[in-house]
Amino acid sequence: MMSSDRLAQDGGQRLLIKHAEELVICGGLAPKKGIEMNDLGIIVDGALLVEDGIIQDVGTTAEILAKVNEQDYQVIDATGKCVMPGFVDSHTHFVFGGYRPEEFFWRLGGTPYLEILEKGGGILSTVEATRSTDKAELKNVAAKRLDAMLAMGVTTVEGKSGYGLDYTTELRQLEVMDELNKEHAVDVVPTFMGAHAIPAEYRGRTADYVNFIIEEVLPAVAKQGIAEFCDVFCEQGVFSVEQSRAILQAAHVLGMKIKLHADEIVALGGAELAGELKATSADHLLQTSDAGIDCLAAQGVVATVLPVTAFCLRESYARARTMIDRGAAVALATDYNPGSCFSHSIPLVASLAAIQLGMTPAEIITALTINSATAVGRASTVGSLERGKQADIVILDHPSHLFLIYHVGMNVIDKVIKKGRILIDNSKEK
Ligand code: NIG
Ligand code: FE
Repeated sequence: MMSSDRLAQDGGQRLLIKHAEELVICGGLAPKKGIEMNDLGIIVDGALLVEDGIIQDVGTTAEILAKVNEQDYQVIDATGKCVMPGFVDSHTHFVFGGYRPEEFFWRLGGTPYLEILEKGGGILSTVEATRSTDKAELKNVAAKRLDAMLAMGVTTVEGKSGYGLDYTTELRQLEVMDELNKEHAVDVVPTFMGAHAIPAEYRGRTADYVNFIIEEVLPAVAKQGIAEFCDVFCEQGVFSVEQSRAILQAAHVLGMKIKLHADEIVALGGAELAGELKATSADHLLQTSDAGIDCLAAQGVVATVLPVTAFCLRESYARARTMIDRGAAVALATDYNPGSCFSHSIPLVASLAAIQLGMTPAEIITALTINSATAVGRASTVGSLERGKQADIVILDHPSHLFLIYHVGMNVIDKVIKKGRILIDNSKEK
């Protein structure tokens, strides 16, 4: 039996990874802001010990081997490979019914994203499909998406509701995420996003829909107790700054943390609102002003940049370089969803971050790990390879983290380890 099979069966009780060409730690205070994002704390010829799914020690191979007896461990020899924290995809919409392939081409033909939504398509077409998909099927397709993400090195995923926009379906989407969090290897962080669009039955009555969310849905979501975050699509023609503030303040009172889809298409002042509310993260930020960026930096709001969405929408990219230079903490995520960005490719995010956002390799790795972990409220348990954290680890089939970025959009994974168990092993003979 291969050692990885034994690990998978016994829960990975004792694992030793040795001779990593690069052991990428990403440790220290979280999130990393501005120039701190360049500090990966790489250990050359690194080693790491895991017991009961938790990292026990990290150091050079010589240091670690001097402390333990190799025979007591399942051993991975990572010679010629880069070992790094599992990726945290801190912004996705992975629980949905139906698909929207025709919309992709409408957009390429010149119809703007918001115009498609305004005409009752876009998000609203996924709402229709999601409402008519039963829970078992919703869960089944969502689980397959998590499998695909895991295969590319994602060990923690944030997921949003927002394709129900009614009481029952919003709660159903959250239940699916809760069940998957318990049953699937990937950790799922659920976000309530009932304010993702105005459903057809409230067309022209946005204020009534906002009241419905605040008075009926949010209390039920809080009682259900699954959602950790509340997110709002603060955008022209969707939810105004005032409406977003009202919803997010109500969510905060009910104990939820705050996120915002901010300044994606129009600079409405979403970043400034995120700063005012001390949100955990503000996401998209394609149009955010310098003042908005300074506000995020000053208030410690993680600026989550989603370059594959900008790529797919052919919009200008968020100014991640400026954000970092002005001292903000930047995270990177996929925004995986059936409309604006139908991709869960972390490697593509990484490559676009280098090519289009001007981020350094170290900044990109920080943004995909410890800063994304902060954006989902998990910085104390995941996002870095430090003693006491969950052993969520990715091993690249290459000697350095640069390969994740320069090998464009490709899967460069050798192994994915979740809580000490090897779940993906591409080095095995097939
Ligand atoms: O983050 N911008 C709003 N929401 C999603 C898109 C959802 C969809 O198009 O289905 C986003 O891009
Ligand atoms: Fe989104």
